[in-house]
Amino acid sequence: TSGGSDEAKRRAGESAVEAVTDGEVVGLGTGSTAAHAIRRLGDRIDAGLDARGVPTSFASRELAVENGIPCLDLPEAIGPDGPGIDLAVDGADQVATGEGPADAVAGGALIKGGGAAHAREKLVDAAADRFLVVADPSKESPRLDRSVPVEVLPAGRTAVAEALRELGGEPTLRRAERKDGPVVTDNGNLVVDCAFGAIDAPASLAASLASIPGVVEHGLFVGLADEVHVGTESGVRVDAV
Ligand code: A5P
Repeated sequence: TSGGSDEAKRRAGESAVEAVTDGEVVGLGTGSTAAHAIRRLGDRIDAGLDARGVPTSFASRELAVENGIPCLDLPEAIGPDGPGIDLAVDGADQVATGEGPADAVAGGALIKGGGAAHAREKLVDAAADRFLVVADPSKESPRLDRSVPVEVLPAGRTAVAEALRELGGEPTLRRAERKDGPVVTDNGNLVVDCAFGAIDAPASLAASLASIPGVVEHGLFVGLADEVHVGTESGVRVDAV
């Protein structure tokens, strides 16, 4: 959804997919960087790898099917007889680099939801044994300061906007580009993008957002990432977090 060269995104996505081994189940993220990972996983399956995917959105399911990746739903994957999810590969809109406040350093905190897919992304990324973030250098920042996407029940939009203002945020309803009206998520909800300025304490902001009635999910991912694969023009840097 933003910045970064396609080549850098491709390197990051392909690097993370190198971690997949035979028999594994892979969470399939959403967005242009995760799309490179999905295509690469499809190529590896074509070449004989035995792997299945758990999509995080309508778009990632469509791309997975196009690329010959057998898909499972999340409830099936992590249910009593399910295989579980070995690793998830997913993009981010912003990645805290660890030069910021202690909270961000400890968590490898992310902002996600630029594609309005963060609710199912968080379910899948959190359910995976390992979560590999794929990004390009334009996403990295010492501290998180982008607007935080918040998925909201339609009937709760006014109450949620008021609660977000009380937390010091400036909420804006996300509007659709080629339709008069709001963006509606894969889950039938609305998205409010909330600006907080620089976020010094992502874990406590995450807890506050989660406690607002009517908030379905927010785009702060704190303490979930295990590795960040950053594609550059010449290679890939892998940071454990
Ligand atoms: C989808 O809602 C987001 O969380 C994406 O993961 C994020 O927007 C990254 O997308 P790009 O890889 O296209 O920047």
